[in-house]
Amino acid sequence: MTSDETRGDDPGMREIELLREEAEAALAGAGSSADLEEARVNLLGRKGRLTALLQGIKDLPPDKKRMVGMQANLLKDWLEKALEERGEELRRRELDAELRAEKVDVTLPGRHLPFGTRHLVSAIIEEIEDIFIGMGYRVAEGPEVELDYYNFEALNTPHWHPSKSLQDTFYVDASASGREDVLLRTHTSPVQIRVMEATTPPLYVIAPGKAYRHDVPDATHSPMFHQVEGLAVDEGITLGDLKGTLEHFARRMFGEDRAVRFRPHFFPFTEPSAEVDVSCVICGGEGCRVCKGTGWLEILGAGMVDPNVFGYVGYDTEKFSGFAFGMGVERIAMLKYGIPDIRYLFDNDLRFLAQF
Ligand code: DAH
Repeated sequence: MTSDETRGDDPGMREIELLREEAEAALAGAGSSADLEEARVNLLGRKGRLTALLQGIKDLPPDKKRMVGMQANLLKDWLEKALEERGEELRRRELDAELRAEKVDVTLPGRHLPFGTRHLVSAIIEEIEDIFIGMGYRVAEGPEVELDYYNFEALNTPHWHPSKSLQDTFYVDASASGREDVLLRTHTSPVQIRVMEATTPPLYVIAPGKAYRHDVPDATHSPMFHQVEGLAVDEGITLGDLKGTLEHFARRMFGEDRAVRFRPHFFPFTEPSAEVDVSCVICGGEGCRVCKGTGWLEILGAGMVDPNVFGYVGYDTEKFSGFAFGMGVERIAMLKYGIPDIRYLFDNDLRFLAQF
């Protein structure tokens, strides 16, 4: 054997030994699957060093081919197995670390998510909706920023009517758009007109929402408040239908033994019109502080739709008749629960709101 045939001196064999040492170090030093993959590519990838060595074997002199080829292939087999084993180990370790990081202590007490309750005003609106939906009504909505036409004119309200005055109505400065007839609606009645413009009778609709008036807040006034409007238009609707409907509503809302009375009144958009009272929820009609000794509480305004209003929306007044009503939601809440001041409803004091 010549000296360059001994393992250590043979350049091919030395390279194999070097690669093996390097591979062992790379395997031991790989801290992650990604490191290990990098080592694999360096050695066994398409341009890897061991790959290159294996490809070079065919060019070796025949006497070297066998030995170097055998050793190189042994190294390859060993490396593949070692990569797999080390890979397995690293993956297991990584999974362990992942699981530890994501560990959930199921014995910890749950985190308390405080959840709110509906605001009393919303609850009352939903209660009113439920009662009327039960009678076949649907719920409609209209804009809070409204045109004079819908809020007043088409509701048969003349231009000189006091409710149109600057002291009573919030007008919106829309002068830039050339309009001077934009306002915050003073009631939900304009939704009547909008619904009728869009619908042919028969129709049975309620429209809950906010209304605004230029009022100084006190125990019974708030510049923003809520109303629910009602409108029924059909063939042969009479005042009797209105009375029966509102009586049913009052009893569902305030209790089965409530009496209802109609007092003649005036509204521009209904004829005849009435204010409607229920027997006092506190004293039952005897007379007390809440009903100011009268035994009655006013809950809403109502009447038969004025034919002039039908004229604005092009309804045939020979064929159709209807009734309308409007109620204040805060007022109903206050009567139902004996709340002495409307401002409690808007102060957002949870000690108050959480009671309902
Ligand atoms: N819109 C009236 C108000 O705000 C309430 C009202 C009265 C509505 C009579 C009606 C009605 O629909 O028929 O004071």
